[in-house]
Amino acid sequence: MTNSPIDALLTRRSVKFVQAPGPSTEQLELILRTAMSAPDHGATRPWRFKLVRGEAIPALLDIAVLAGEQAGTPIPEHKIQNSQRWLAKVPLVIAVACALDHGGRIPEHERMLATGAAVMNILNAAHMLGFSAFWSTGLGTYLEHVSEALGFDPLDYRFMGYIAIGTPIEAGPAPERPDYRDFVSDWTPAGA
Ligand SMILES: Cc1cc2nc3c(=O)[nH]c(=O)nc-3n(C[C@H](O)[C@H](O)[C@H](O)COP(=O)(O)O)c2cc1C
Repeated sequence: MTNSPIDALLTRRSVKFVQAPGPSTEQLELILRTAMSAPDHGATRPWRFKLVRGEAIPALLDIAVLAGEQAGTPIPEHKIQNSQRWLAKVPLVIAVACALDHGGRIPEHERMLATGAAVMNILNAAHMLGFSAFWSTGLGTYLEHVSEALGFDPLDYRFMGYIAIGTPIEAGPAPERPDYRDFVSDWTPAGA
């Protein structure tokens, strides 16, 4: 647990290698509820999540491996083995997609941004509850077959990857963050 909400935001970091325990049912409910308060132009609620747990996790990896082969972009054997070792310990994977709205008023990129904001809330909520999380677009995220297998028909969804959540295996040093001043400047109208 962190001391304050601001402290939590300042200390959040991604941790790939996690293990059980993952969030309890109640904690997961809280985490997912935070996703619902993401900013969302037009209240289109574009975010979709699939919870992947237990035996479903290696099954998903198998699907990604097969999809890579079928697409002519096979995942190298050492990467498959690394992923197997990694995922064998991960207690919870949340697959993330953005629902499209063909011809709708809100452009696709805004829907994707809303979905990304929902993921950010999930990452922060997991951190605030003492867990670690990691958003990745590996495991065949950009292969249609994987998206389809997860129930995200590419005609109607943009599959946006996976969030792995659990207890960090190693604490590791806090990452160095950039100086915000390098990214911020005042704007004044020309000629003022
Ligand atoms: C949309 C998205 C996809 C990502 N995909 C990957 C990925 O496939 N592999 C990876 O190593 N990091 C990926 N990352 C980066 C990590 O999630 C993480 O942000 C990065 O390791 C930096 O850690 P930090 O969040 O503590 O700054 C992705 C981040 C985003 C936002």
